[in-house]
Amino acid sequence: MFLEVKDITVAYDTALVLDGVSLGINEGEFVSIIGANGAGKTTLLRTICGLMDWEKELMRGMRKEVSNIVIEGDIFFDGEKINKIAAAKRAEKGLILCPEGGRPFRELTVLDNLKTGAFLIKEKQKVQQILEEVYKLFPILREREKQVSGTLSGGERTMLAIGRSLMSNPKILLIDEPSLGLAPRIKEEVFGRIEEIYQAGVTVLLVEQDANRVLSLCSRNYVLSQGRVVFEGTSDKLRGEEKIRKMYLGL
Ligand SMILES: Nc1ncnc2c1ncn2[C@@H]1O[C@H](COP(=O)(O)OP(=O)(O)O)[C@@H](O)[C@H]1O
Ligand SMILES: [Mg+2]
Repeated sequence: MFLEVKDITVAYDTALVLDGVSLGINEGEFVSIIGANGAGKTTLLRTICGLMDWEKELMRGMRKEVSNIVIEGDIFFDGEKINKIAAAKRAEKGLILCPEGGRPFRELTVLDNLKTGAFLIKEKQKVQQILEEVYKLFPILREREKQVSGTLSGGERTMLAIGRSLMSNPKILLIDEPSLGLAPRIKEEVFGRIEEIYQAGVTVLLVEQDANRVLSLCSRNYVLSQGRVVFEGTSDKLRGEEKIRKMYLGL
C-alpha cells in the first residue's frame, strides 16, 4: 500500500471523533471517503497529514476548554512509518492536503498564494515549470494572477487551493470537499480538473459529500459514519448496497 492508515483513533478530551479507522490506497489509485457532516472526514485527513499533532502541541500552551487530544494508531506512507514525524516533513515526502474551504492567504495575490505552495522546492526553474502546468490546468488563475485572493469567487478560490497544492509537487493529494458550496457547473469543472490531475499520475484521496458524482470518478470508496468505516469497496459494489446508499448517501 502507498498510504496505509491503521486503527486511527482521535478524541478531544472525552469526545471520540475517529474510532479505529483503517484504510489504504495503492499508488496511482483514486479513492474517495464519503460521509455526512461531522462524520470525521476532515479530522481523518488532518491526522494523516500531521496537522492534528500540530494542533495538539499548540493547545498545550493555550489552556482552552479542550485540554487534550488523544491520537492513536499508525500511518505508513511510501514504505515508511510517518505518524511520529512533523507535518512539514510529511509534506516534503509528497503527502499534500488541499484543505476544506481552500484557505488562501486572503491578502496575498493569486500568484503569491501559489508560490507559498512551492516553499519546499529550492530550484526557481522547477517552481516556474510547475506554475506553468498549474496555469495550463486553471487558465483563470493566470488571468487573476495579480488579484488579491480575498476577492475571488468560490470556484476560483477552490481552483487556487488545488493549484497551490500542486505547487508542492504532491505524490498523493488529499482533497477535502472541493465542491462545497459551488454551483453545479463549477463543481463539474472542478471534478474534471481533479480527474486530469489524477490522469497525470498523482494518487488522489478525495473527501466528498456529493456521493453521486464521486462514484463515477474513483475506483474505490470508504464510507465514514460517526468516526467509523462502515463500508469499503468499489463504486459498483456501493451502488448495489441499498442499505448503505439510503443511510449514508441519500441516493
Ligand atoms: N476542536 C474540536 N473540539 C471538539 N470536537 C471537535 C473539534 N473539531 C472537530 N470536532 C468534532 O469532530 C467531529 C468530526 O468533525 P470533522 O472531522 O470536521 O467532520 P467532517 O469533516 O466529516 O464534517 C464533529 O463532531 C466535530 O464536532
Ligand atoms: Mg469536513
